Amino acid sequence: MHILVTGGAGFIGSHVVRHFLRNYPSYTITNLDALTYAGNLENLRDVESLPNYRFVKGDITDGDFLRRLFQEHAFDGVIHLAAESHVDRSIASPTEFVVTNVLGTVNLLNAAKSFWQSDLEGKRFYHISTDEVYGSLGKEGIFTEQTPYDPHSPYSASKASSDHFVRAYHDTFALPVVISNCSNNYGACQFPEKLIPLFINNIRQNKPLPVYGKGENVRDWLWVEDHARAIDVIFHRGKNGETYNIGGHNEWTNIALIRLLCRIMDEKLGRTAGESEQLVTYVTDRAGHDLRYAIDSSKLQRELGWVPSISFEKGLELTVEWYLANQEWLDNVTSGGYQRYYEEIYGGR
Ligand code: NAD
Ligand code: TYD
Repeated sequence: MHILVTGGAGFIGSHVVRHFLRNYPSYTITNLDALTYAGNLENLRDVESLPNYRFVKGDITDGDFLRRLFQEHAFDGVIHLAAESHVDRSIASPTEFVVTNVLGTVNLLNAAKSFWQSDLEGKRFYHISTDEVYGSLGKEGIFTEQTPYDPHSPYSASKASSDHFVRAYHDTFALPVVISNCSNNYGACQFPEKLIPLFINNIRQNKPLPVYGKGENVRDWLWVEDHARAIDVIFHRGKNGETYNIGGHNEWTNIALIRLLCRIMDEKLGRTAGESEQLVTYVTDRAGHDLRYAIDSSKLQRELGWVPSISFEKGLELTVEWYLANQEWLDNVTSGGYQRYYEEIYGGR
């Protein structure tokens, strides 16, 4: 089997590539990534010399290039993760999200459709999406696969749109697709613009921790390696045309999570208890900030037997240990253009 993974140099994609290379040595994995600010080949140093791994630098917004790539490599499957993924960037610059997330996905669907149309047997187009397409919950309720789409940010609107296109290609062209919608991921190699790595980075540098609003928003956190395991079972055993929700039943208000993170950081850095938490600074809320996400993953658990493998407390501790052991990685990705981004997003708050 030859699988095309898009966005494999990013946070989740690098864990997916590693998981497939380690668990399926007979597969060939081609990682297609444009290496935007979020893509980093350092994330895959430990597996890059494996004989069944190939990297191709390329852009999913280029339809002709994708068609040539399919001709050249005759992929049997696609696991599509490439995207613009950060909500704050989507507020600053929505159009990029339409181009990459919507047009890029449609280009990929077109390439798979035209290359596979004579023989769809054994083919699979797996689109990786987010729980954010379902919108925002109040204090009660949980997202199921039947929850109507109700996106609020340009990011979630672009992901919702791409999900609709993927379903449309299944219904209209019988393309063998499967979709999963996952909750917030955390773990090694996440770009430090997202809450957990940003706050780890700021705590180690004694910089303020910018908590949006009152810190009462709730997110449902999943260990990235558990997401990679879920992607494995859905890719191999999910039913065509179906959607699977992925999540760890692990809801935290932002402020409770930040307090836990500060406690772990105090311990690991040998600081006195409470020191890191003093860095908490409440700032102007994110526009259109969804109050609460919570995912019901019982379909995936019931039908495909997937369960999360690690508690949040343990996973967060491992995550902190990884960033502290890889401070050079943090320094490299936060130099240059990132400094300008930080000023733009947080300067006026
Ligand atoms: P990321 O931003 O860390 O990585 C995205 C990758 O896509 C990068 O390597 C980047 O270089 C690449 N890329 C961007 N534009 C491209 C283009 N035009 N052509 C080719 N490659 C391009 O994102 P992530 O957090 O790893 O998310 C991966 C996927 O999972 C996304 O589709 C995202 O919507 C989805 N998702 C993320 C989360 C989360 O918590 N991070 C949760 C659920 C779903
Ligand atoms: P984030 O990691 O950006 O993920 P998402 O918006 O996709 O859920 O943010 C997680 C939560 O943390 C979200 O409620 C916004 C909040 N947040 C802050 O309070 N401050 C920050 O600097 C960031 C980046 C996020």
